[in-house]
Amino acid sequence: MSDVPVTDWDMIYRWEWFRHEDWRHDFRDAKLGQGGGTCRAFTDLSKLIGAEVALDCSCGLGLKTICMSEMGLNVSGSDGSGFAVKHAAELAKLEGTNISFFQSKWANLPKNMPHHFDAIFCDALSSVTTWDELGASLVGFYHSLNPGGFLMFMGAGDESDPEEEHWKQHEEWDTQPREYADWFYRDGGVSCSKVVQKRKSEDYIDERYLYVICENQITRLESTTYRRPAYWSWQHWKDLTQMAGFCHLETRTYERYGYDGGPIRVNVAWKEKNGAPRVDHAARNAPYSE
Ligand SMILES: C[S@@+](CC[C@H](N)C(=O)[O-])C[C@H]1O[C@@H](n2cnc3c(N)ncnc32)[C@H](O)[C@@H]1O
Repeated sequence: MSDVPVTDWDMIYRWEWFRHEDWRHDFRDAKLGQGGGTCRAFTDLSKLIGAEVALDCSCGLGLKTICMSEMGLNVSGSDGSGFAVKHAAELAKLEGTNISFFQSKWANLPKNMPHHFDAIFCDALSSVTTWDELGASLVGFYHSLNPGGFLMFMGAGDESDPEEEHWKQHEEWDTQPREYADWFYRDGGVSCSKVVQKRKSEDYIDERYLYVICENQITRLESTTYRRPAYWSWQHWKDLTQMAGFCHLETRTYERYGYDGGPIRVNVAWKEKNGAPRVDHAARNAPYSE
């Protein structure tokens, strides 16, 4: 798959951070909606199993991590984007929360993390484009969990069939604009507009983000593409999580947690309780700091 685009997350977050004063006041509403969303589902399940340490491993600028922390979860954040985790730490401080962040690709978590975790949240696993990367990421998660811990992620659930997943994407596609100006922001002598262009193929949607930047009277363009695959089925998740070592995969439904107060469904992969424990209590009691 040589034509798979590599998303430049540093670029995306550089421009999101540029306008952070624009969204800082209402990001909680955007992430939690009426029902609390996936942040609430993850926090609830973590508390239910008595998780002492949790990780939001696709934290970006830390918006969901901050929401989870404010729900009373002892959560750290990590992301592959160095720019994102640096500014996530800054935002968490501005918002008055005490959260540790570190940079890591999912596959490399075991060597970058400060200690093992009881619960890991990933809201971007379905956007991995290749089987190999998905497998390596799941192995990374497995080895980052304590025995009895879980990974929560979003994707095709136990009742979905692959045709239906495709159909859902097509249905959404038909009601969405293909091109639009997302936002414009000016700060001093610099302004930036974000334009989004979407293209659908048989089994994925590509979102191209174009940033039109004007600085010192000079206009330039930066762009990157985010691919959203539609091909990962429940059977893929079953096979891959089992291959990575997880003992059980299930879909859990949370009634009324959705953006509009409706139900949401999340996938949860469990690491068996009697795996060899590698709990470093000293490290767990002294959370990682940069
Ligand atoms: C859709 S964004 C999630 C944003 C964030 N959860 C939020 O709600 O604001 C997906 C994130 O996953 C990260 N990511 C994607 N693939 C990754 C990988 N293999 N390892 C680590 N991070 C990855 C990206 O850097 C990006 O920040």
